[in-house]
Amino acid sequence: MKKRFLKFLITAGPTREGLDPVRYLTNRSSGKMGYALALAAKKTGGDVILVSGPVSLEAPVGVKVIPVVTASEMHRKVMAHYKSADVIIKVAAVSDYRPSVVSLKKIKKDKKTLTLKLVKNPDILKELGKKKKPSQILVGFAAETNDIFTYGFNKLVEKNCDYMVVNKVGKNTGFEKDDNHVFVFSRDGKKTEIKGSKKNIAEKIIKLII
Ligand code: CTP
Repeated sequence: MKKRFLKFLITAGPTREGLDPVRYLTNRSSGKMGYALALAAKKTGGDVILVSGPVSLEAPVGVKVIPVVTASEMHRKVMAHYKSADVIIKVAAVSDYRPSVVSLKKIKKDKKTLTLKLVKNPDILKELGKKKKPSQILVGFAAETNDIFTYGFNKLVEKNCDYMVVNKVGKNTGFEKDDNHVFVFSRDGKKTEIKGSKKNIAEKIIKLII
């Protein structure tokens, strides 16, 4: 029988939320884990679309990269491409909030204190959890510093994922680092611990979910 190659949709990197023409809010995601997953997915022979926030990484050969900046742009691109994907992996560190107003002029330091009003961004993973077909595999990532098992499993249930990769953010693992320490939770409550380079972890995660 002919082998059917899977179609992957992966998101990676941070999002950037504009404040004024010279400033933005973002987070410490480097995109390394998402890009490593895109490469590992490509090696299975399937098609890979990578919706990527601003990072300074080279696109893996053969992967179609869709660059985005804000969470709203990531939301639009993911919604435009998720239907044909067999596996959706949401590694991106999406900004939970954005400034309620983007100032067209540079904000001046003429006040003693400055309060920013932020509004919530769409939760892309949660929306995918509601919309996905039973045949689609949905994988979320959770970056946690503490109570990782409770938070991780709760996120898997709340966002209706098939797997939740819980990323322990510590001194030598997590954001910006080359190494990582993760636990892959599945719906039946099983946890698989994986430690090592992000490249190595990416290959093991892809093997586990497909
Ligand atoms: N996520 C998303 N859209 C958002 C926020 C998060 O799609 N607006 C996704 C991330 O890509 C990740 C998962 O949700 O796969 C968990 O992200 P995380 O930041 O750990 O959790 P939050 O849901 O944002 O909850 P909290 O920040 O309260 O821990």
